Amino acid sequence: MGVIKILMDAVLVRCPFLYALHSLLEALLVGQLPRWAVVGGERRAHMDRVSALLNDWAIRMDLPELERRRWRAAGLVHDLLRDSEPSKLRETLPSALVEVPSTILHGPAVAERLRSEGVDDGELLIAVAQHSLGDARFGRLGRALYAADFLEPGRAFLPEWRAELRERMPGDFDAVVAEVTEARIRNLIERGSKVSPQTIDFWYVMVGEAA
Ligand SMILES: [Fe+2]
Ligand SMILES: [Fe+2]
Repeated sequence: MGVIKILMDAVLVRCPFLYALHSLLEALLVGQLPRWAVVGGERRAHMDRVSALLNDWAIRMDLPELERRRWRAAGLVHDLLRDSEPSKLRETLPSALVEVPSTILHGPAVAERLRSEGVDDGELLIAVAQHSLGDARFGRLGRALYAADFLEPGRAFLPEWRAELRERMPGDFDAVVAEVTEARIRNLIERGSKVSPQTIDFWYVMVGEAA
């Protein structure tokens, strides 16, 4: 592992272009939001906390530098249209997305924007598009973003329980993601809200992988 890391670092020094994210994502990492972002101060602080949590997990998982920056960028990008008027978002979206409920429209809307600007990282696009519902197709990044969005320390509910789950990450990764998914499903049921079959499918996958 040590030799591989030394080799990768050497390649990075000689060929930094091999290790760059899309320019829009690199700009986000240095605090520059795209012109189409619609986020207030509180939302931006939430995205910063999600990004910091993802960065912390990526470091503790010893992920390579590029992957770590990719995880940070996912946290910074996922809610960039959360404060936009859903009716305005619908005007610019493909017809397939027009029926998506208002509360979860921002994820697919950000993914569409990224795609239209040339971001072709499929795993990141699914992670961002489906961060509200969860998705059985999620790779490690999607699962991490889904959990970090719920576990970031700025949220007020169940602080001690969520701190415990944060402590168990990333070592107990799939079990924590399964518990987060279950908690979100339970919360929806208690509020009398509809639970998407997509979320149930994701939960089944995570329970199976955590076993
Ligand atoms: Fe969101
Ligand atoms: Fe969020």
